[in-house]
Amino acid sequence: MKFLSKLIPILTILLLFNCSGKKDQTDSFDITKSKAKPTEETKASERVDLENKGVGPVTEVVLAAEIDQDLARTGEGVFKQSCVICHKPDVKFIGPAPKGILDRRSPEWVMNMILNPNRMIKDDPLAKDLFMEFNGTPMSNMGLTEEQARAVLEYFRTI
Ligand code: HEC
Repeated sequence: MKFLSKLIPILTILLLFNCSGKKDQTDSFDITKSKAKPTEETKASERVDLENKGVGPVTEVVLAAEIDQDLARTGEGVFKQSCVICHKPDVKFIGPAPKGILDRRSPEWVMNMILNPNRMIKDDPLAKDLFMEFNGTPMSNMGLTEEQARAVLEYFRTI
């Protein structure tokens, strides 16, 4: 009897310990679940934001329904000369792939990103997120003229 009266409190403690242990496990499971949420958000490079025109010299671009092939060829030349060290047309490289960029961004935003990347990374929320996604590698200002940037934009319509 003496033995039993000692055993019962011990068993009770063990039981309690076991239950509270289980409870902790469920709690921490919930925490990891809620922590995982932000990474499930759409990456900046894949986010669609056609309203945002960005920050910079370009406030309005009108795209003709038909692609200007001569202008696109000029743009391809500029791209090959100034951009391919960091961008491949259709796969992620040091920077994102510009393929299909006009399905995700406004033409004004793209041109401002080319002409004014430093301000964009500082003041435009999407460019900021993109900069973070690419681990703080900044898009470089390659000193293009507005005409050259417009030509690159036309080239982007062809890839
Ligand atoms: C030194 C590397 C480097 C060079 C050179 C460079 N870029 Fe970038 N570019 C990046 C990086 C990195 C990003 C993404 C991170 C950021 O925006 O800071 C980017 C982002 C962009 C974006 C936005 C892409 C998106 O999906 O929203 C465009 C458009 C762009 N670059 C065009 C160009 C063009 C056009 C040229 C050539 C005139 C060029 N880049 C030259 C590194 C570069």
